[in-house]
Amino acid sequence: MNVLIVGSGGREHVLAWRVASSPRVKQVFVARGNAGTATEGNDIENVDIDELDFPALIKFAKQNGVGLTVVGPEVPLCAGIVDAFEAAGLRIFGPNRVAAQLEGSKAFCKDILHRGDIPTATYNVFNDSHEAIRFLQNRDIPFVIKADGLAAGKGVFVCDGNEEAIEAVRSVKNMGNAGNRIVIEERLDGEEVSILAITDGTTILTLQPAQDHKTAHDNDKGPNTGGMGAYSPVPLVDKEMLQWIEERILVPTVHTMNSNNTPFKGVLYAGLMITKHGPKVLEYNVRFGDPECQPLLMRLKTDIVEIFEATIDGKLDQINLPEWDERSAVCVVMASKGYPNYYTKGEEIRGLADAATLPDTKVFHAGTILDQNNRVLTNGGRVLGVTGLGNTIPEAKLAAYTAVQKIRWDGAWCRKDISDKAAGIPR
Ligand code: AMP
Ligand code: GLY
Repeated sequence: MNVLIVGSGGREHVLAWRVASSPRVKQVFVARGNAGTATEGNDIENVDIDELDFPALIKFAKQNGVGLTVVGPEVPLCAGIVDAFEAAGLRIFGPNRVAAQLEGSKAFCKDILHRGDIPTATYNVFNDSHEAIRFLQNRDIPFVIKADGLAAGKGVFVCDGNEEAIEAVRSVKNMGNAGNRIVIEERLDGEEVSILAITDGTTILTLQPAQDHKTAHDNDKGPNTGGMGAYSPVPLVDKEMLQWIEERILVPTVHTMNSNNTPFKGVLYAGLMITKHGPKVLEYNVRFGDPECQPLLMRLKTDIVEIFEATIDGKLDQINLPEWDERSAVCVVMASKGYPNYYTKGEEIRGLADAATLPDTKVFHAGTILDQNNRVLTNGGRVLGVTGLGNTIPEAKLAAYTAVQKIRWDGAWCRKDISDKAAGIPR
């Protein structure tokens, strides 16, 4: 079978690499992919079609014997790529357009959480910014202001008091469609973790916990980014807590999506805050996390294609529980100068061949491109996800940073503390 992966980041590189290792798969196509997927091997090939050009993707899938399509990013999911492929009689892994609202509309997500009695921050939804400002005027407490729609990670403002919150409402209002509705939430404190599960709408297969690092600088300082590194497993989330999260969060979410007539199939990614009153949902994403996908899939031993197919067929209950590498994985994101603000592109990346010789490490590409001379150039803010395995989290961290040291380009930088939060907590 041939498989099409839609997307071009680090998540899609690791997905292509894992899918290509399946004995069921002959050829993997990535639209559009990056320099990493272009150079991975003969069984992975980039296709120059935009992730939102559904007719061209469908035509390509039909002409190239694609038996399974896997969608990486949220934008095509929220735009209905699954509906379009299914209408064309093609097999595709992911939620349809209405179910993808769980990520595409914060108000929709909060409504599902509320109806399922699922722990989350208290909230109010406003259709009008003046009303939102009136609500804030006599409440000088920490709030989080969110644009309802997709905003590429820029629609959330964590505020200390009402002056800052009112300013945030004004910013959200100026965001266009995404800011048409505004969600105001209680601000929660605690440690953030990502719990990803795969569901066919009936059975839930929970993956191992992972932790992202959202801010640009060490010790969780600086502006928010798409994620500067991740590791798995997470010592903070023990077996008992994971079971609680399944029972009190994942199961009622899947159930409420069913009773809402928006059944969910695909990756259910719960962004959680582990508060002193227990885990609470900050948000849902409807796809694999990037960079969480890199350490997770480095550790997954089960054939992921079997999981994707069982999900599409509604037969997740018929496959074995996933098997995991007992070792830990740490992924360090190397970024371009200036990211997450304006950044430079087109720098030549050196040392990749050297890094590739190291054991137990794998360099996943994100914002990279090949030039005519087959040189690898930077082409985005987050450039590489350098991922290491080790018997402990510190050993995995050492493996990842040893590879990072071999790679260089003008302006390259990374956080130095990825996974440190886990250190000192026994597994
Ligand atoms: P979201 O896109 O909803 O996950 O928000 C992005 C980031 O904002 C999260 O990863 C958190 O760091 C932060 N955040 C969102 N909601 C809250 C909340 N209710 N309390 C504290 N921080 C939050
Ligand atoms: N790592 C956060 C995200 O994928 O949204």
